Amino acid sequence: MLMLRAKPPPDWLDKVKSNLSAVLVDHAHLERKAATTALCLEKYKDLYPRVGELNSIAIEELQHFQLVLNLLKARNIPFGHAFPSPWISGLMKAIRNGSRHQAIDHLICCSLIEGRSCEKFQLLSGALAEVDAELATFYGSLVESEGNHYATYILMARDIDDPETDRRLDFFLDLDAKLIQQPNPYPILH
Ligand SMILES: [Fe+2]
Ligand SMILES: [Fe+2]
Repeated sequence: MLMLRAKPPPDWLDKVKSNLSAVLVDHAHLERKAATTALCLEKYKDLYPRVGELNSIAIEELQHFQLVLNLLKARNIPFGHAFPSPWISGLMKAIRNGSRHQAIDHLICCSLIEGRSCEKFQLLSGALAEVDAELATFYGSLVESEGNHYATYILMARDIDDPETDRRLDFFLDLDAKLIQQPNPYPILH
């Protein structure tokens, strides 16, 4: 269950809907980064026992990446560069140093990114039903997987330190709610 404290800005859906080609390129990068981030989490000592689960997430994200690349190819959209996301970099900048603190914060950030993807894919799936049925179905098909990643990352943080995860989650949920309201001119998902 998502516990986000703010909705995406009201103009987000229109901006995304009117720039679907750019959004698909951004989405491809998002899945690529999700795959590499799952592997990156394997560097934390506290997550050594979870290496198999993290590999499974990385494989799933790589499959998502390939699915988006297939869509790009079918639509003759070239794979291009990624736009920066002030929301993602704002979250990442708040990750503390120190192996255990860093692991917990990093997991919470990943969880919020997965949670926002889950939320936004669901919104897109509904909004595109009449405009682009293929994309609507595609986004709908990703909702459960991203929701599972959201839950898995939070549970991994809780397994390291439950009370500390509660404290940091409270901090990051406030930060997310503040950052998501900031104006962002790019046609990107986050
Ligand atoms: Fe994904
Ligand atoms: Fe994911």
